[in-house]
Amino acid sequence: MVNGNQEKELKDFMGFYKIDNTVLIDDLDTLMNGQRLGRLKSDGKAMSWTEYHYMETIFDWLDGLATFYPELVTLYTIGMTTDGNPLKLVKISVGRKDRHKPGVYIDALYHGREWISASVATWIINELVTAPSRYSTLLKNFDFYIMPIMNPDGYAHSCNYNRLWRKSRKASGTWADFLGCRGVDLNRNFGFHFGGPGSGTIPCSLIYRGTHAFSEPETSAVRDFIYENRNVKWAAYFALHSYGQKWMTPWGFTEVKPVDYDELIRVARIGVAAIESHRGTKYDVGSAPDVLYMASGGSDDWFKGAAGCKYSYTIELPDYGFYGFLLPSWEIIPSANETWFGISTALRSIARMR
Ligand code: ARG
Ligand code: ZN
Repeated sequence: MVNGNQEKELKDFMGFYKIDNTVLIDDLDTLMNGQRLGRLKSDGKAMSWTEYHYMETIFDWLDGLATFYPELVTLYTIGMTTDGNPLKLVKISVGRKDRHKPGVYIDALYHGREWISASVATWIINELVTAPSRYSTLLKNFDFYIMPIMNPDGYAHSCNYNRLWRKSRKASGTWADFLGCRGVDLNRNFGFHFGGPGSGTIPCSLIYRGTHAFSEPETSAVRDFIYENRNVKWAAYFALHSYGQKWMTPWGFTEVKPVDYDELIRVARIGVAAIESHRGTKYDVGSAPDVLYMASGGSDDWFKGAAGCKYSYTIELPDYGFYGFLLPSWEIIPSANETWFGISTALRSIARMR
């Protein structure tokens, strides 16, 4: 990424060293400004997937779901962020409220700029809530717990100030604050092999892990929610990120594979085959170090290693790197459709194994 007036210099440089190159995005600024955020009336009923939405719109819509579908939807505010935003999680469940089915936990938007992930999460919520008969097998086997915005502060910052913001927004109380280096990488802050490879120690790092495991309000709220629901057996976990089209298994902190790695890969392959059958979108399958990079303190590792959730995955949604984080809004519906088809197909396979 360079300024327009540096284009010639860069091309001359690459030409001199015979480096093959193509321009992926000619005008990043136009693309960033072109990403319109929807302006829906916040009456709690409106949601759409033809554009991205502000956090406030998404939260109002969640409030509305809890009001209009009380049989199906329970809304939890599991914590508050440093900037005073709520951490909202919906539970979607059919049948007796005093019984617990195995839980499927899906969360998204750990990283501010990964807008598509929140849209896919709200799409999944909408499918389950407005067309439960379509998913009767899944809803008979599982309770769904879905958190569409894990990092509200980072998302707001991306929407309003800096489109490519990744981390949360808490000040570290050190010199780094004066350099504008705020926030923690929430996907490095979980307490299973916290502090291992692929996590940063200095606050200015893009992958800064925080001072200690669960030092952040966002991650500790999730930990506490899981602890408070000890009677729920976690069947599957999906962390939605972007971009890269990868369906990844633990471990993320080491190249060593979990003992049930082959079974996790089997189910992942079922998921990506379903995705590909939809409109041809191809996904890579493998452990995070094998297909992306090593990273410690991730939510997927914690759900598997500490919360006992066997089928724990991180999914890098579209695209493959052309638009990257700036995925145009016309891609929301096709991406959401194929992703949910992949996840729901994988879940049916998991249900049959039990
Ligand atoms: N892009 C994700 C991140 O950087 C990948 C995480 C994969 N999981 C892991 N435990 N390494 O957070
Ligand atoms: Zn991410």
